[in-house]
Amino acid sequence: MNSLTVELGDRSYPIVLGDTAEWLDLLLKKLANRPALIVTDENVDNAGHLEKLEKSLSANGYNNFQSFILPPGEEHKNLATVELIAKAAVAAGLDRKSCMIALSGGVVGDLTGFAAAIYMRGIEFIQLPTTLLAAVDSSVGGKTGADLAEGKNLIGAFHQPQMVALDMQTLTTLPEAEYRNGLAEVVKYGMIMDKDFFDLLAANTGKLNSFDLDFYAKIIIRSCECKAEVVAGDEREQGRRAILNYGHTVGHAVEKLSNFNLPHGKAVAIGMAAAAKLAVLMNLCDAKVETLQNQLLADLKLPIRLPENSNTDCIVQAMKSDKKNTSGGITMVLPVAIGEVKIVKGVNEELLKAALKGVL
Ligand code: NAD
Ligand code: GLY
Repeated sequence: MNSLTVELGDRSYPIVLGDTAEWLDLLLKKLANRPALIVTDENVDNAGHLEKLEKSLSANGYNNFQSFILPPGEEHKNLATVELIAKAAVAAGLDRKSCMIALSGGVVGDLTGFAAAIYMRGIEFIQLPTTLLAAVDSSVGGKTGADLAEGKNLIGAFHQPQMVALDMQTLTTLPEAEYRNGLAEVVKYGMIMDKDFFDLLAANTGKLNSFDLDFYAKIIIRSCECKAEVVAGDEREQGRRAILNYGHTVGHAVEKLSNFNLPHGKAVAIGMAAAAKLAVLMNLCDAKVETLQNQLLADLKLPIRLPENSNTDCIVQAMKSDKKNTSGGITMVLPVAIGEVKIVKGVNEELLKAALKGVL
């Protein structure tokens, strides 16, 4: 079993990766026989992962839980679903000392974490990610929330989980497209803070494209180490944590403009391509940085161009509602080298439009 800790003082928590049997004792210890609500979605349930978890818990004498199954998809990541989770928690008898468990990807993880943050003014929760994206990103770091029609994640709270645990076997049922979504966030870590990791990914696209689980275990751990380091240094995004949003400013805008039909990971890949183009136009980085990044994204079959018929003015408009912006205009994370980025406030709109046209 692989493990690491997100160092946040008395709110530190472990991230563990291995078969359920390897981390079940830790999970049972965290649950301490308290009432719990497991929140999952239909796809995770149909793939048998809920049953495996329920049986593992019951076989070890813990039955003080109920499960709540949501319809899958970003379109359900809203306040109405948060209310449904809270009502299910009431029905399951959860009190202030109880716990919620998110078993699924980032949508269920963000929603359950947010429901836990506000249920009875805040109860504990545990993240059991079942997608690559959730394993390397959304389950770690305590950002929870829901979307509004006006934009992604506009409602939310910082609420750290008690533990994050991944059963690698859950990834065997993950559709290929979902691997690719997660890979965009993995490439992001290489780009923002770890050139060696970027080079490792670039040298192993064969293993990544054949979904070699041993190699995936390695890159998941490295990605979690990167995220844990950033979160430990800036939990509430007062500064450096914003680098984790590399690719997300344009990404969130195109995701929203597609009515969330474009998956998050693909949108982030396009966002990274646009950010690199802008960085080159601003002379922040060498054109080689853009080429290397885009080559890796393309090798991983991720998009590096905006969807057909995209309107760059509409994208800029949508970017203006991004949470990272301040009164100084649009804020973006831009590369200066492979493994290093810079947070740029008040991005020049004409250059931004030129960069977006460059990735049309
Ligand atoms: P998702 O939660 O929608 O899951 C993707 C699909 O995979 C869904 O259809 C789901 O039902 C299915 N699925 C999940 N596990 C499966 C498995 N093991 N086998 C088969 N199918 C499975 O999407 P995601 O990519 O995991 O997460 C995206 C969300 O995460 C977005 O809402 C994004 O905003 C959020 N996010 C949050 C953070 C954060 O820091 N909180 C970071 C990145 C992304
Ligand atoms: N996914 C961005 C963050 O956790 O800060």
